[in-house]
Amino acid sequence: MPGILWRSLLILQASAVIYTAAQFSPAKTYEDWWAYKEAVQGSFVPGPAFWGLVNSAWNLCTIGKRQSPININTSQIIFDPFLPPLRLSMTGTTVSGTMYNTGRHVSLRLDQEQPVNISGGPLLYNHRLEEVMFHFGSENSIGSEHLMNKEASAGEVQLIHYNQDLYSNITEASRNPNGLAVISLFLNVADNSNSFLNRMLNRETITRISFRNEATHIQDLSIEDLYPETFGFLTYQGSMTIPPCYETVTWIIIDRPLNITSMQMHSLRLLSQNQPSQIFQSMSDNFRPIQPLFHRGLRGNLDFRKPGRKCKGANYKLHIDRPTSSTTN
Ligand SMILES: *[C@@H]1O[C@H](CO)[C@@H](O)[C@H](O)[C@H]1NC(C)=O
Ligand SMILES: *[C@@H]1O[C@H](CO)[C@@H](O)[C@H](O)[C@H]1NC(C)=O
Ligand SMILES: *[C@@H]1O[C@H](CO)[C@@H](O)[C@H](O)[C@H]1NC(C)=O
Ligand SMILES: *[C@@H]1O[C@H](CO)[C@@H](O)[C@H](O)[C@H]1NC(C)=O
Repeated sequence: MPGILWRSLLILQASAVIYTAAQFSPAKTYEDWWAYKEAVQGSFVPGPAFWGLVNSAWNLCTIGKRQSPININTSQIIFDPFLPPLRLSMTGTTVSGTMYNTGRHVSLRLDQEQPVNISGGPLLYNHRLEEVMFHFGSENSIGSEHLMNKEASAGEVQLIHYNQDLYSNITEASRNPNGLAVISLFLNVADNSNSFLNRMLNRETITRISFRNEATHIQDLSIEDLYPETFGFLTYQGSMTIPPCYETVTWIIIDRPLNITSMQMHSLRLLSQNQPSQIFQSMSDNFRPIQPLFHRGLRGNLDFRKPGRKCKGANYKLHIDRPTSSTTN
């Protein structure tokens, strides 16, 4: 009976989890004990289905009812013509930051000197950009966390901001109401790319973070280059897509993709989850599976049901404030 066999295997696996957890849970590494796939180099590491079970501080990952990512069914998006455009404020034109191979993601953490805030759209507060995180697939048909009408993109770039009006840092914000705002851009493999990705993912830069814990500093990045010239967005209330899965995120999903070349995609797939002395294991497929929507609503600043919808007018452009130069677009 294959069914029974499977069930006993599952029970065995579940007890293996408890056993392993009991055996190897020194507090220091426990916080970091999760992965996108259960088996890492032959030993068990909790994958998404287990995140909420192995650490009580992460129980929202299992029992939460406002979890992310989700499948976005465009026919369920409510058109809200009163959503204002997104607004970026910054003191200069470019930013710098450190790009890391965290073993799970490519992550760009911005330096403190040139803050970039986002507001507008559904956001009632100023949110400061803290980190840009990349999720991507081993092939072009998978990789994004959010799905659009059940379809994945090759990847998803997430701009993670925290509410700087209410909280003093991202750690505090991530566990409190209205703490985080994440802007998501889907990756589309094309024969062209954008200047931001060209800076980050060129051969010379990306090969400096081939292995886990490697980092490199990069300058002259223009955050506004990540945004399409005109775009619509949709928004919903959800959670962080990594443990502890706090339900404090206002998601804003941009309806036009960010182009990436297949060469750049390839260079992402060549990044290892491991250190140089360990076996090569591609970082790709670092996405959490979709979570139930329950009764949450999706709102958009354009009518997603209308075919051939156009994003014309100031509402569909990113507004940019630069306090020092007093330029407003
Ligand atoms: C970002 O928002 C914070 C909190 O509202 C504010 O203090 C800061 O001046 C803003 N920075 C910029 C560049 O707009
Ligand atoms: C999207 O929602 C509509 C209306 O609720 C439903 O008929 C349709 O099957 C859904 N499509 C997907 C891909 O979930
Ligand atoms: C974040 O802010 C809280 C509250 O102000 C503080 O207790 C904590 O030490 C800060 N954490 C970091 C990492 O700065
Ligand atoms: C992205 O690539 C597509 C071709 O796949 C092209 O039609 C589109 O204009 C490109 N987008 C940008 C912003 O360059």
